[in-house]
Amino acid sequence: MKFFIDTANLDQIREASEMGVLDGVTTNPSLMAKEGIKGTENQHKHYIEICNLVKGGDISAEVIATDYDSMIKEAQELLALHPQIVAKLPCTEAGIKGIKYLSGKGFKTNCTLVFSLGQALLAAKAGATFVSPFVGRLDDICSDEIELVEKIVQMYLFYGYKTQVLAASIRSTQHIVQCAEVGADVATCPLVTIKGLLKHPLTDSGLQTFLADYKKVNG
Ligand code: G3P
Repeated sequence: MKFFIDTANLDQIREASEMGVLDGVTTNPSLMAKEGIKGTENQHKHYIEICNLVKGGDISAEVIATDYDSMIKEAQELLALHPQIVAKLPCTEAGIKGIKYLSGKGFKTNCTLVFSLGQALLAAKAGATFVSPFVGRLDDICSDEIELVEKIVQMYLFYGYKTQVLAASIRSTQHIVQCAEVGADVATCPLVTIKGLLKHPLTDSGLQTFLADYKKVNG
């Protein structure tokens, strides 16, 4: 399973990257705004900085445009910034058409804002590299989010689609584990939820005992 970090915060991306378990980054307009990055030029510089922090990783950069022609223009500008950029387009009619065009040109794409099996089917048919079901937002409205991830994984296996299932909008460490159990290819998560995987009281108490026993003999 690949781990992406779902943030545009450079310190958090650096920290996750230094842990040695990071395969990529996902951003969206809300996450860029949270970092206070204004204007196209600054946003482009920021994407390049992210790419340089995660060598070889997939870095999703989302288009703002909503009509097909503007989406393609914007996606091409983003893709030209760095070879690691993945163009992130929403699961709308224009977005699916854009993904079909860009994937046909050999570019990596991420179909975002996916909440149903039907949307995931369209994303795969369009040739998306990644499909992003929003686990947390479905959980927020009491919809079975893990069941959706599992059904997408099974559907892609059944038809042999190469599109990778990228579980997004992860709210908890348990979500990561549940997505892993049903075979999601990628989870994109906040740093705190990735670090949550480390936590176990028996690891902490076991380490304390080892260190205490070592000290008894070695001083
Ligand atoms: O990757 C999509 C993600 O950023 C959305 O997360 O927490 O805004 O639902 P959230």
